[in-house]
Amino acid sequence: MRILGICCSPRKGGNTEILLQQALQGAAEAGAETEMFTVYDKDLKPCDGCNACRKEGVCHVQDDMQPLYGKLQAAQGIVYASPVYFWSVTSQGKMILDRLNSYYALAKLSGKVGGAIAVAGALGHVEVRNLLYSFFAWNHMFIADFVPAFATDKKEVRRDRHAMTCANLLGQKMVSIARAQQSYPEAFRIPLTVHVRDNLKIPSAPAKGRFQVGGEGAGAGLPT
Ligand SMILES: Cc1cc2nc3c(=O)[nH]c(=O)nc-3n(C[C@H](O)[C@H](O)[C@H](O)COP(=O)(O)O)c2cc1C
Repeated sequence: MRILGICCSPRKGGNTEILLQQALQGAAEAGAETEMFTVYDKDLKPCDGCNACRKEGVCHVQDDMQPLYGKLQAAQGIVYASPVYFWSVTSQGKMILDRLNSYYALAKLSGKVGGAIAVAGALGHVEVRNLLYSFFAWNHMFIADFVPAFATDKKEVRRDRHAMTCANLLGQKMVSIARAQQSYPEAFRIPLTVHVRDNLKIPSAPAKGRFQVGGEGAGAGLPT
C-alpha cells in the first residue's frame, strides 16, 4: 500500500508541506508506505498540447515529471496539496495536472484514492477543491476528502490545530478506502460525450465548428 503526496508549494518547509507531512504520517500510522514529491526542487515544464501522449501513453517532455509518472502508477492513493494562488493551485500544481492529460484517456489513475489539501491566507479553498475534485472524478478516482487550512506566514499552519488533525485523519482515511479495493463498473469509465462520439459515430458539434456564433448556418444541428 503506497500513498504519494504531491506538494505544490514553491516554498520549502511551508504550510502546505507541513500539512501534507501530517497526512502522510496519518497514512503511515495506518500501515502505508509513504512518499512526498515536492515541486520546489524540481524542473517542471508545461504541457505543450501535442496530444501524442494520448496515443503513446508517454509524455515526450523531458523534465522531473518523468520520475513522477512512475510514482503515480505505483501508488494506491494520491494526496494533492497546494497553497491557494489566486483562487487556484500554484502554477507548478497546474502544470502537473496538465501533464497527466494522457492518464485520463488511458485510465491510469482509475480506482486510485484522491485526497486534497489547500492552504490559503483567507480565500480560495473552494476553488481549489472544485479543481481537484473534478480532476479526481474525471480520472475515475475515489475521493477521500478535502482539508482546508488558514495560514499566511511560513509554518503558521501549525497553529491551525483543526487542519493539522484533519490532515492526519485524511491520510488514515485514504488507507482505509484504498484497502477496500473498490472499482467502478466498466460503464462508468466512458463519459457519454466520448461514447456518443466514438461508439455511435456522432461527431461532437463544437469540435466540427458547426455551432459558430453568428456564422453561416449558425444553429444548424442544434437539438430541437
Ligand atoms: C502568488 C500568491 C498568490 C496568493 N493567492 C492567494 C489567494 O488567492 N487567496 C489567499 O487566501 N491567499 C493567497 N496567497 C497566500 C498563500 O496561499 C499562503 O501564504 C499560503 O500559506 C502559502 O502556502 P505555503 O507556505 O505552503 O507556500 C497567495 C500567495 C502568493 C505568493
